[in-house]
Amino acid sequence: MNTPCILRGIGHCVPETRLTNADFERMVDTNDEWITTRTGISERRVALNGETSSDLCFVAARQALEKAGMDAAELTHVLVATFSPDAVIPSTACLLSHHLGLAGRMSLDISAACSGFVYGLEMARAIIALHPTAKVLLAACDIVSSRVDYTDRSTCVLFGDGAGAVVITADSPELSGGRLLGVRVASDGAAGDLLTIKGGGSATPYKLGDTVRRDFFVEMNGREVYKHAVRSMSGVCAEIMAENGFTPDDVDVFIPHQANLRIVEAVGKRLNMPEAKVFTNLQKYGNTSAASVPLALSEATLEGFIKPGNLVLLGTFGGGFTWGSALIRY
Ligand code: ACO
Repeated sequence: MNTPCILRGIGHCVPETRLTNADFERMVDTNDEWITTRTGISERRVALNGETSSDLCFVAARQALEKAGMDAAELTHVLVATFSPDAVIPSTACLLSHHLGLAGRMSLDISAACSGFVYGLEMARAIIALHPTAKVLLAACDIVSSRVDYTDRSTCVLFGDGAGAVVITADSPELSGGRLLGVRVASDGAAGDLLTIKGGGSATPYKLGDTVRRDFFVEMNGREVYKHAVRSMSGVCAEIMAENGFTPDDVDVFIPHQANLRIVEAVGKRLNMPEAKVFTNLQKYGNTSAASVPLALSEATLEGFIKPGNLVLLGTFGGGFTWGSALIRY
């Protein structure tokens, strides 16, 4: 990669409302002990007050712009990674651009489920390679609660809502932020049926008057997803380190997709990554899909877990299947 890509500012937003494991004990046949030992999740945030994906993206984007010291008007491209857009049409990126007072920019939604943010980094660096003066806003958001069946105990305890956003440019006057050293992304549609939301798509359309069916919500073969997630995420993280001449010893902070603690621990083990280097916040947010990695990156930055000079490794995995990794030097 020749043109530098700098993550200049980052922000995040989660809804106010919390759903704790105790809340789930009242909703489905589950208990805190089962959820905690299998997933590590204690609570999640849910958009019960009408917050939309574009609302959360807007707050995260304002924070990112403020940290970058930029006005929204300077942005040239707006990308939003989400599987839960405000609407099928218009795209959430168009709505976000409008909320930010922008018109005449490229605005595009990215559909790569939980890997959407890392896919977005790849697209941002492609845009900047083509247009070195571009100023790209990349937001990632999911209101997963809008597609979760709260009577299905095997999925409902896993997910939460949130958003993260970064501003990416080729240059940074203060040389602050993180320099994107590399991105790797991949997919395999052959295993796509293991994690789906099919209802309402053109293959399974709804007609006026139909009752919403189970297929409107997340359906998942948890055990198989688990195996693929561990294998793909650890594989792509090992590949990007090797490609860039780094070993796990060189990495200061590892930010994996916050799906659940057992997946994170298994990936960390395969990569020989000491636990102390691994940042997690899934305990309080659950799996926020596309928002997961930027939400963790934003909190890790705010909390000082990431320090100037640190090498940060991102890893992700999601429905499709999709997966990816990125390396950032702060
Ligand atoms: N509370 C209590 N019991 C439960 C619950 C619950 N919330 N959910 C399932 N069970 C029961 C099952 O019904 C089953 O009971 P049975 O043996 O009587 O049939 C038992 O627990 C074991 O179920 P499994 O699905 O085999 O449990 P497993 O140990 O595999 O753990 C889990 C389930 C946590 C979902 C695990 O498979 C997993 O982590 N998978 C990955 C899921 C994930 O993270 N997906 C998203 C990643 S990709 C992305 O982010 C889009």
